[in-house]
Amino acid sequence: MAVSGLIRVMERAARKAGARLRRDFGEVEHLQVSRKGPADFVSKADRAAERTLYDELLQARPDWGFLLEEAGEIEGDPTKPRWVIDPLDGTSNFLHGIPHFAISIAAQEPRLDGKGWGDVVAAVIYQPITDETYWAEKTRGAWLHDARLRVSSRRHLDEALIATGIPFAGAGDPNEWVKIYAEIGPKVAGIRRFGAASLDLAWVAAGRFDGFWESNLQPWDTAAGCLLVREAGGFVSDWRGRSDPICAAQVLAGNDALHSRLHKLVVGALKS
Ligand code: IPD
Ligand code: CA
Ligand code: CA
Ligand code: CA
Repeated sequence: MAVSGLIRVMERAARKAGARLRRDFGEVEHLQVSRKGPADFVSKADRAAERTLYDELLQARPDWGFLLEEAGEIEGDPTKPRWVIDPLDGTSNFLHGIPHFAISIAAQEPRLDGKGWGDVVAAVIYQPITDETYWAEKTRGAWLHDARLRVSSRRHLDEALIATGIPFAGAGDPNEWVKIYAEIGPKVAGIRRFGAASLDLAWVAAGRFDGFWESNLQPWDTAAGCLLVREAGGFVSDWRGRSDPICAAQVLAGNDALHSRLHKLVVGALKS
């Protein structure tokens, strides 16, 4: 599959910001860290990576807008797509010296009626430490470099390795997570909490994880990953089974069989 100009632009920006993150990763003790919430940290590295992505993408597509995790929304031409960006997904891992974090970039089109935002048309998730680029384009599949990605073919819960995100201080509803875990945990082969939602989704697309659930995520955590899972033949929905382009508030992902089994368990868990 020939890589499009759009993916090239996104990958170039991600690699440039990723090189910065790799340098900063070795200097974690020198990064100024502040808090956006009780356990929601932001460091100089998050801001520097975001700045690099902003500069690169603005130069490549001067009239597109931005939704940036740290700087917020920057309007562009409303008839053009916008970039949805998490400059460092997995900040807690990064700050603890755990080499599991990524840059997530999505290109999202405006809705045809001009009211809000529609489909995500391109996605790049770049993991600086492993130098892996996951990418997808609407209708053109999901890829890890030049290898086509497919969600896993496991159909039984007792064979499935499921990723999740657990609410931390000041974010999300821990009771909801505990109820869902009580239903899913004992029925599956394993649960993982790795701490970077974009990679959780990319790894579902790559068939490494068989499924994933988390709530209270933000568009920049999920926009690129949702497209990857869908383009790899998987399903992403909220707890009610509804799918929207981004699904940030509640994310349930997997292949068709496991998505539907997990969905039933989530519905059951939240009824009780
Ligand atoms: C966080 C990670 C984590 C998820 C959190 C996110 P950040 O993003 O994706 O896996 O559980 O809810 O906020 O803050 O490291 O970009
Ligand atoms: Ca954050
Ligand atoms: Ca994030
Ligand atoms: Ca982040």
